[in-house]
Amino acid sequence: MMVTGGAGFIGSNLVDRLLAEGHTVDVVDNLSTGSLANLAEARATAAHQLTVHQMDIRSAELIDLIGRRRPQVVFHLAAQADVRVSVTDPVFDADVNLLGTLRLLEGARASEVERVVFAASGGTLYGEPDLSELPLKESLPHRPLSPYGVSKKAAIDYLVAYRELHSLEFCALALGNVYGPRQDPHGEAGVVAIFAERLLRAQPITIFGDGEQTRDFIYVDDVVDAFVRGSTKGGGLLCNIGTGRETSVNELFREMAARAGVTAKANYEPLRPGELLRVSLDPSRAGIQLGWHPWTELGAGTAAVLEFVGQRLATGGGE
Ligand SMILES: NC(=O)c1ccc[n+]([C@@H]2O[C@H](COP(=O)([O-])OP(=O)(O)OC[C@H]3O[C@@H](n4cnc5c(N)ncnc54)[C@H](O)[C@@H]3O)[C@@H](O)[C@H]2O)c1
Repeated sequence: MMVTGGAGFIGSNLVDRLLAEGHTVDVVDNLSTGSLANLAEARATAAHQLTVHQMDIRSAELIDLIGRRRPQVVFHLAAQADVRVSVTDPVFDADVNLLGTLRLLEGARASEVERVVFAASGGTLYGEPDLSELPLKESLPHRPLSPYGVSKKAAIDYLVAYRELHSLEFCALALGNVYGPRQDPHGEAGVVAIFAERLLRAQPITIFGDGEQTRDFIYVDDVVDAFVRGSTKGGGLLCNIGTGRETSVNELFREMAARAGVTAKANYEPLRPGELLRVSLDPSRAGIQLGWHPWTELGAGTAAVLEFVGQRLATGGGE
């Protein structure tokens, strides 16, 4: 098995699961936003099954590497994953997300990889939806409104074309707002990680807009489970990976503050341009095609994040 972006938040959790199932895993990561610390447990418990290649997916060496390692399945998670970066630097975004993906597909086809399981973005793929369409189904038009959403959508189009042209199988997972241990609290999408860190440090919390904007929060273990299922099922399909439920940022804040035992008030600032107002993803297709269902309740998931961040702060790892 190969995991691109395997030193990142979701990728490293996937690596842990694959190792636990007894697979040999090659990680490809340039450590731009990921970190070897995310793979510390994996290295400690299963070093002989794990090889980390510090490499950029855009480099020509990727094709040689896939040829040498000949993975059966490639989980493709390496990406420029920040919507705001994509707006300020769309060329860089396309370089990583489009050309990097093409490089990977070229390597996969040359080495007869059986399948690519791709991390698509359910939060951007459908643009700003009509509220009557919630929760969103895969059959809705794909009309992303950010360069990140466009590059992620185009990667799915390439997957479809490679399947037709080269019989390279794929499964694309349109992920909701993923949260869980190891998420970077400084990243733009990591609202759960940001709230956890700020609540536990008793620091002020800012909510952009009135806080009634909604997201479909999905716990990282559930997402990892979808990737594993996508390695054998759902061939040629795009599947939403979300709960089908909307949770407002205010609701999330109240729930996490109560769980952390903190009486805190949020400061409200104007909504950032381009921010989606409401979203939730209908996971019915993943239920039918992958046998996948969301498992972790928001309360249990946020409790796990608070515990993880609490331990990190207690051991001085919070800076
Ligand atoms: N976190 C979410 O809510 C969410 C939602 C939808 C889709 N996704 C997608 O899931 C994937 C993983 O996201 P994440 O939240 O774990 O982010 P992350 O930033 O933690 O992981 C991305 C990983 O890719 C690596 N990387 C970036 N550019 C690279 C390059 N050019 N070559 C090699 N490695 C490179 C980074 O170092 C990092 O380890 C991404 O493709 C992202 O677009 C995430």
